[in-house]
Amino acid sequence: RREEKRREEKRREEKMSAQANRVMALSEWKRKEGKTDYLKAASHADGKISIYQCDLYKFSSAVAGKFGGIWDRGALVAINPCDRRKYATLLMSLMNNDCRYLLDTVEYNSELYKGPPFFVSEEDVKNEFGGGCDIELLESVDAFGEKYKSWGLDSLIEEVYLLTLKAH
Ligand SMILES: C[S@@+](CC[C@H](N)C(=O)[O-])C[C@H]1O[C@@H](n2cnc3c(N)ncnc32)[C@H](O)[C@@H]1O
Repeated sequence: RREEKRREEKRREEKMSAQANRVMALSEWKRKEGKTDYLKAASHADGKISIYQCDLYKFSSAVAGKFGGIWDRGALVAINPCDRRKYATLLMSLMNNDCRYLLDTVEYNSELYKGPPFFVSEEDVKNEFGGGCDIELLESVDAFGEKYKSWGLDSLIEEVYLLTLKAH
């Protein structure tokens, strides 16, 4: 019985360490008529990469556990600002205790352009994630270029934050 318990613990540890290396990223998703649930669209042979094609809000840790890394580029800034609390609560629920969540945002004069990508300030990041995460601004770069000029903008700053779960 003790041996069985030890094996069970080992299996759990292996599962957790495999999960610690998994990264999630939001990418192309097209709403399909009548398709509201998640779909595991592809899986790499070694099991290290799985692609889920779904409405993100249908995803949860019950589908694929928690993640050791999250790369959020063009995701938080792409969703409707009114959905940010729902989005942040979901993303935090997908983080392992030692998960590193890299968040890329844009700041610009929102009187000149309304989005998307939507303007997300440091205060917005703190409002949405500050309850559960420590937030560190890693980089702030001037990313202004012709593309943004054509949107009517006169400046655009790209910011990268590191979010980690607060210690309990
Ligand atoms: C601006 S694109 C960014 C794509 C990619 N992350 C990148 O950086 O190039 C935003 C993506 O979010 C997807 N998206 C928007 N709402 C979503 C949702 N509720 N569930 C899943 N994907 C969503 C859109 O389909 C779109 O492909």
